[in-house]
Amino acid sequence: MPEPAPDSPARDLEERERHPLAMETLVPLCASRGFIYPASEIYGGIAGFWDYGPLGVELKNNLKALWWRRVVRERDDVVGIDSAIISHPRTWEASGHVEHFSDPMVDCRTCKRRFRADQIEGERCPEAPRQRAISECDLTEAREFNLMLRTELGASVDDAMTAYLRPETCQPIFSGFKRVRETARQKVPFGIAQIGKAFRNEITPRNFTFRSREFEQAEMEFFCHPSTREEWFAHWRDERFRFHRELGIGESLLRVRPHAADELAHYARAADDIEFLFPFGWQEIEGIHDRGDWDLSRHTQYSGKELAVTDEQTKERFVPMVIETSVGVDRTTLALLVAAYAREEIGEGDERTVMRFHPALAPIKAAVLPLSKKLADPAQAIHRDLRKHFNTFYDDAGNIGRRYRRQDEAGTPFCVTYDFDSAEDGCVTVRERDTMSQDRVPVEGLTSYLRDRLEEGL
Ligand code: GAP
Repeated sequence: MPEPAPDSPARDLEERERHPLAMETLVPLCASRGFIYPASEIYGGIAGFWDYGPLGVELKNNLKALWWRRVVRERDDVVGIDSAIISHPRTWEASGHVEHFSDPMVDCRTCKRRFRADQIEGERCPEAPRQRAISECDLTEAREFNLMLRTELGASVDDAMTAYLRPETCQPIFSGFKRVRETARQKVPFGIAQIGKAFRNEITPRNFTFRSREFEQAEMEFFCHPSTREEWFAHWRDERFRFHRELGIGESLLRVRPHAADELAHYARAADDIEFLFPFGWQEIEGIHDRGDWDLSRHTQYSGKELAVTDEQTKERFVPMVIETSVGVDRTTLALLVAAYAREEIGEGDERTVMRFHPALAPIKAAVLPLSKKLADPAQAIHRDLRKHFNTFYDDAGNIGRRYRRQDEAGTPFCVTYDFDSAEDGCVTVRERDTMSQDRVPVEGLTSYLRDRLEEGL
């Protein structure tokens, strides 16, 4: 049998079958290496909240930077904003979240636990898993539970105003639509994008960061003429799928799933999810939504401010349709961690854990490792020079094999070793993470050598 090609779906699946990754392996690795760990850990954590450590924040920032580059910077027809997390409370009446953004909940009269009514089928009661399924507990009727997190504004109790931490980042894009269109001198069709925090009072936060109460979204709202909505929907779905492939996620781990009519959110006329194969099954990481004119029409109605536009050529006045791309930054970061993880034999009974991140996403781009502490001065000089350009790391502790292993686990694509020949020939050895092959590279050209290799495939 011929070997499957390196990036083929068959290869991905074979790899996954040989080394199935359990969340029980990934979660402790993330904590011990400083990718992600429970928020408020010394108090026992707080359900649905997570902190990103030194490696995690770099990974997440690199993902956001690549999204911004592809969606905003490299396009003429999309501009970016950064809006306040708290909006005027009328925003959430207009958006339909006060009325519709809820899950049906049931309470158990015996153990006082609360469950999502649509998620109890086949689940065991956590208080008495041997005795009964949740459906056999003494449950109340289902009631709607709003998922928005409330807060109070103002110092005095009487004047306090109820506000909400935004459950999605896109609403200020709609309320600021006119201002942004005019100041950016954009004409429909064009898009407005932003990355930021969103909050949902999820009843059952679960699967590590997958369902959190505080998370980040990267959203882009594309405004178009009603006659072109289907074209733009297909354009953005394909663009966004390509983006996830570009991140280095194998084809067999990604799929597009169209929503059935009864799954659609209150604002959506059509929706396709981009799903990733997590260890806990296929799950959504991004939604592409046809929101129609729901948002602009509702904000016009609730604010009294006209948000329609005029086609300069035909003089037609119309409310633009919105095609939305909404990706969870935390879910995608989790997908990157899952897709990157590999455990492999490297000969002589030795094994390593290696995080095969795309070099452009890797938290540390290069580690500078002098072969001996005696070579610390020239190696540190190289490190000081490289870190002006990339996130680099200096390590002279322990034997070189162990230092390589530590960098493999962090997903560092290149290790730069300064050895006893370096002073003579002006070269260092660059070891590549995945193949473990080594190249002798002149110190003088090291920055451009690394820059080229980090951008490969982008
Ligand atoms: N503006 C549309 C919107 O918010 P959504 O499908 O509810 O649509 C979009 O959310 C994306 O946000 C999801 O695909 C997911 O990646 C992320 N997301 C939603 N809820 C989340 C949660 N509780 N924890 C982590 N990510 C979440």
